[in-house]
Amino acid sequence: MLRVENVSKSFGGLTAVAGVSLDLGDNQVAGLVGRNGSGKSTLLHIITGFYKEDSGWVLFQDKPIQDLPHDAISRLGLPRTFQQVRVLPFLSMRENLLAVAPDQQGENILSVFFRPRLIGRQERENRRRADEILQLMKLEHLAERPADELSYGWERLLELGRVLMCRPQLVLLDEPSPGLAPLMVEEIFDRILEMNRRKVSFLLVEQNARKGLSVSHRGYVLEQGMNRLEGTGR
Ligand SMILES: Nc1ncnc2c1ncn2[C@@H]1O[C@H](COP(=O)(O)OP(=O)(O)OP(=O)(O)O)[C@@H](O)[C@H]1O
Ligand SMILES: [Mg+2]
Repeated sequence: MLRVENVSKSFGGLTAVAGVSLDLGDNQVAGLVGRNGSGKSTLLHIITGFYKEDSGWVLFQDKPIQDLPHDAISRLGLPRTFQQVRVLPFLSMRENLLAVAPDQQGENILSVFFRPRLIGRQERENRRRADEILQLMKLEHLAERPADELSYGWERLLELGRVLMCRPQLVLLDEPSPGLAPLMVEEIFDRILEMNRRKVSFLLVEQNARKGLSVSHRGYVLEQGMNRLEGTGR
């Protein structure tokens, strides 16, 4: 599904990623672990089009994607989260999900006048999907709560819900668990496994190596921007 081949990236004199390769099959979870500064986020930024690699290839479904802009890569079915949580603070949980629904004809002024029925159908469908995701994430009881009233852990779960709205094939998560209480960490990993059962693949960056690798079919350890170890997991 995703193949990263020999990717490198330097910032000035500092080599952040030095010839990293990884291979992720359909419906799989891959764990990417390593110490601070080992190049994990840089690699994620490259795969998702936020950074341009200096050399190497990134292939999704056997097609190169490294020259696509990040929004096009997300639309291909590869949405991501960031190391810092990103939600819309003043909107409710449900509105946060609706805000990222793809293909919103209601945003097109011509469609508002000429295709009102289509918009109505899309809005109903998006709302149905948002409620389905709230249910899947076990967040229905918080649907109307503004995001800025939520604890950090709930925000992390909401973020996962937001990527699901985009009907992803492969979700890239940059450290979803640090700073969370152990129970919340379990909740997050539980939802990742549940989504994986529903055929969503994951590339999961984690500093908590044991936890990250315990949910992964394949694990990669980076050290100083290089592949250090690789192995099969669950
Ligand atoms: N935009 C940038 N400009 C300059 N140096 C950078 C930039 N981004 C990352 N680096 C450097 O590249 C190296 C790899 O950083 P990266 O953020 O990829 O590590 P990481 O494995 O994600 O670490 P952490 O676990 O702390 O998030 C580090 O030495 C970092 O300082
Ligand atoms: Mg990082």
